[in-house]
Amino acid sequence: MQLEDVIAKRYSVRKFSGEPVSGGDLGAVLEAVRVAPSAKNQQPVRVLVCSTPEELAKIDACTPCRYGAPVVLVFACDDDRRWKKENRADCGPVDVSIAATYAMLEATDRGLGSVWVMNFEAAKLTEAFGLPANIRPICLLPLGKAAPGAEPGPNHALRVPLSEILLKREGR
Ligand SMILES: Cc1cc2nc3c(=O)[nH]c(=O)nc-3n(C[C@H](O)[C@H](O)[C@H](O)COP(=O)(O)O)c2cc1C
Repeated sequence: MQLEDVIAKRYSVRKFSGEPVSGGDLGAVLEAVRVAPSAKNQQPVRVLVCSTPEELAKIDACTPCRYGAPVVLVFACDDDRRWKKENRADCGPVDVSIAATYAMLEATDRGLGSVWVMNFEAAKLTEAFGLPANIRPICLLPLGKAAPGAEPGPNHALRVPLSEILLKREGR
């Protein structure tokens, strides 16, 4: 697909078929994560791939937003690696968000659906999976084939006009 078609096709899938994701598709999504840019190339992005019934049960205990996906990618930041200087932005969550966006778009290109999830209990997830203190969960990405009849939610079509996005400068 052309990139513009991928972007136009993506929407938050909230009803998955449950059909397993192939190793090839999962590998391509993870490769997109791997090559994503990061601040000072520190590459702090870490991903926990959850797909076994035990892993998915742990995910379900932390969020109501799996929507039946057969795979959930837990995107995390290695706080020992991220670029963060005094009086400067914490680039860790930015790096993770870029990588998760790459994953979403690669998934869309491969006919998979996904949804970005931040409605989850990070502390509970950290404990459930025994994550070390430097690994900070940022977001979840449930992934899989959309169920037949799955459709974009009402918010998908609601976008502000470009005129609201572009900041005006005095005298222009
Ligand atoms: C940072 C972020 C957090 C989000 N958290 C959730 C979430 O916890 N649960 C959920 O169902 N959708 C979540 N979404 C999806 C948004 O609700 C969705 O992107 C928005 O309504 C626009 O719809 P669309 O993705 O179909 O275009 C999140 C999206 C973003 C970017």
